[in-house]
Amino acid sequence: MKQHGLVVAVVGATGAVGREMVSILEESSLNVAELIPLASERSRGEHIEFKGESVEVEVLEEDSFAGVDLALFSAGGAVSKKFAPLAVAAGCTVVDNTSAFRMDPNVPLVIPEVNAEALKGHHGLISNPNCSTIQMVVALEPLHRCFGLKRVVCSTYQSASGAGQRALDELRDQTVDILNFKEPKHEKFPRILAFDIIPQIGSFYEDGISEEERKMIQEPRKIMGLPDLQVSATCARVPVFICHAVSVNAEFEKDVDLEQARDALRAFPGVKLFDGENPYATARDVSGENDVYVGRLRRDPCRKNALDFWVVADNLRKGAALNSVQIAEALVQADILSFKRN
Ligand code: A2P
Repeated sequence: MKQHGLVVAVVGATGAVGREMVSILEESSLNVAELIPLASERSRGEHIEFKGESVEVEVLEEDSFAGVDLALFSAGGAVSKKFAPLAVAAGCTVVDNTSAFRMDPNVPLVIPEVNAEALKGHHGLISNPNCSTIQMVVALEPLHRCFGLKRVVCSTYQSASGAGQRALDELRDQTVDILNFKEPKHEKFPRILAFDIIPQIGSFYEDGISEEERKMIQEPRKIMGLPDLQVSATCARVPVFICHAVSVNAEFEKDVDLEQARDALRAFPGVKLFDGENPYATARDVSGENDVYVGRLRRDPCRKNALDFWVVADNLRKGAALNSVQIAEALVQADILSFKRN
């Protein structure tokens, strides 16, 4: 640590999530004395703005983490698998936004509002959950505390930015091409996304479940400490640039009370409940915001112990960069950023 604050590296600083990480670090309670933006050879010579200064992007190398206190990784699973252990070996605490280590029992998987206690005794590596999982679990947790969660059936409507900056560019180019009567192309998505919906995120396992759906099934169990939670998910990519939406049907142990559910959601940190005259938010309302927006809250008409609702959040912020920075803030507040003492 520098005398007056933390040395923080952002791995993937030129990407869609990495840029948000840098901007959220500017606003955060973390005392950042030095920011080291890291990216690939492609970004050599680029600069990013941090606290009014232009900082040169460095190419990620094996020795990039000497003297670094905290590294936020969002450069893909392969980069994390190779470089996160090197960072930890250099004494740096890593918050990893990829799926590389999420289900490793030795790695905490954390949404601070839900399971900050899982950070205690960490070994230098903490995983940030999947974007759609974060927003769904933030909405489920207060309801679980009231009624005891048993089963979840959910469908996601995920924006292009979840697949990175080049995917955002691809959606824009496809849209422009189609409107100009040109043949659109695709590379980052399995089909043309513009003006369509693709029910595939990641590849499919033998049982027909996609990689993203597997994350929605497994990660809530670990985060909420509910190993037997039943989850069924369908994940779709929609032609929206930023913000994911999730439609949730949640079944509980106890019968639900709608007023109690509303109160619990309103009282939970990081949740905004849309209700009454204005019963839901959309991506347009939520892009650039930090909270998780819950709306369309209603009883399942067929079951006394089940609720239906709609959850929207900025996937680049609460779904990724903001949650990663909040994990780091929670580590600093608990005085456990450095794992050498754990
Ligand atoms: P670069 O811009 O130099 O390619 P996104 O999630 O928006 O696709 O962004 C991915 C981020 O991860 C970018 O900052 C990208 O850098 C970075 N990245 C991708 N591959 C590597 C790599 N092999 N080494 C370092 N950074 C990488």
